[in-house]
Amino acid sequence: MERVTVQTAPIDGQKPGTSGLRKKTRVFMGPHYLENFIQSIWIGIGGVAGKNLVLGGDGRYFNTNAAQVILRMAAASGAAKVIVGQGALLSTPAASHVIRQRKTDGGIIMSASHNPGGIEEDFGVKFNMPNGGPAPEEVTNRMLEATKSLTSYDILEAQDVDLGTIGTQMLGEMEVEVIDPVTEYVALMETLFDFDKLRRLIASGFRIRFDAMHAITGPYATAILEEALGAPKGTVVNAVPSPDFGGGHPDPNPIWAHELMSTMMAADAPDFGAASDGDGDRNMIVGRGIYVTPSDSLAVLAANAHLAPGYAAGLAGVARSMPTSRALDRVAEARGLACYETPTGWKFFGNLLDDGRITLCGEESAGTGSDHVREKDGLWAVLLWLSILAETGKSVSDLLTAHWAEYGRNYYSRHDYEAVDAVKAEELMAGIRSRLGSLPGQTFEGLTVVEADEFSYDDPVDGSRSEGQGLRIAFEGGARAVFRLSGTGTVGATLRVYLEDVEADPARQHADPQEALATIIAAADAIADIKGKTGRDAPDVRT
Ligand code: G1P
Ligand code: ZN
Repeated sequence: MERVTVQTAPIDGQKPGTSGLRKKTRVFMGPHYLENFIQSIWIGIGGVAGKNLVLGGDGRYFNTNAAQVILRMAAASGAAKVIVGQGALLSTPAASHVIRQRKTDGGIIMSASHNPGGIEEDFGVKFNMPNGGPAPEEVTNRMLEATKSLTSYDILEAQDVDLGTIGTQMLGEMEVEVIDPVTEYVALMETLFDFDKLRRLIASGFRIRFDAMHAITGPYATAILEEALGAPKGTVVNAVPSPDFGGGHPDPNPIWAHELMSTMMAADAPDFGAASDGDGDRNMIVGRGIYVTPSDSLAVLAANAHLAPGYAAGLAGVARSMPTSRALDRVAEARGLACYETPTGWKFFGNLLDDGRITLCGEESAGTGSDHVREKDGLWAVLLWLSILAETGKSVSDLLTAHWAEYGRNYYSRHDYEAVDAVKAEELMAGIRSRLGSLPGQTFEGLTVVEADEFSYDDPVDGSRSEGQGLRIAFEGGARAVFRLSGTGTVGATLRVYLEDVEADPARQHADPQEALATIIAAADAIADIKGKTGRDAPDVRT
């Protein structure tokens, strides 16, 4: 085995986004592309010599090839040990857990999350810190700087490591431990939830359908729901991870998980439906005949988490990303809990969790999590929901209706305009930004603006400041529109428009969200001139 230094040159555009570096798979497969970025990660984290890392991915196309390259590069740069999920698989929350549990120096997760996979689709790489959470901006900025001046990288010339067999082997001087990707995660879930109680719920005839969307949660959900909790075989559908996610879009929302939606809206629907995304950190919750928006799910979990053993002592506080609906704030206020508002992206929750300020957090984009890991966690959310249903004996629909009656309903929707010309999208944002000062007092579609600003965040733990985190327009009566550009897209720009209104009257809490929000949608369009600026008549996706 020989260690070689390969000459290279900086590659443009290797800037980590909301969640690591995401590009088309073919771009990642291009000459030196992956290698340059990995070497830049080593530089960004102050070198990898003597360190222990975790490595795994969501199984998408190029996952195992990339894992072999990363292992050879870790060995060449002197890493002591890499713990790898069997078959180079690890869901994002499981990777976060192993990083923490084994007290390692961090880990690399290969995933583009909910983006489609395949040679023509997306691939991604991100680095998580020793606390199990995504690298903060300070670290990703160092990685970016490194990508701009890189002249060489180090790699071992060696045969592929056997990633199919559990156990320890050597790659040069470096130890490679292949672990079962599921075992340690299941053990963690057993510390948080009462598996006996969940087993009894299922034995009583409570029916579940979990759609793994041909992605990584298949093996995890099968091990927990079917094997440990005794749900009938076939409870988990699309359970075998495939490199292109069965040609689908592994994004758990009513559009991409329409199969599950139609099952759950049928007369003989199961009691509870759920889905997870490509790398297992997102979740979608559906009851019989009712879809639960992620923002509502977060609020319901915050209000009821104490019913599960892991949270019996109550919550230290809660947090949501800025565009997430303020349903959570209503629960926090009623319970006297601190409630933090952070920029979009999980990395901002890490400090709050590490500092013990919050126990539970989430985002409108189908992410919820707690202090058990430093990533959002799809299956964990499913188990917490099941624990609450088991304890209260209520259906999803009854629980949600009671929640709205008590706290009010925050009607909510996100409209995405995808693959918009990047220059036009920036112009649209700049157009709103330049008018922020003059919007208050103006009326659009009968709605008067009371406040308009650009969100920036001062981290209360490390004092860092993140600017330019989305444009917020607040209307009279509590309605709100938020505009931001996605930081995870791989083609052009994605404009996200987040719309919200509050309804306190239980008699008016059962409307279709798009109808309930129609005036705010029109006002947002009037303010931003979305049609005029982008040429788009309607959003590509409404969630
Ligand atoms: C999107 C979501 C965000 C989430 C991120 C990673 O980022 O909006 O909430 O944390 O994916 O899953 P965006 O594309 O909006 O930057
Ligand atoms: Zn994900």
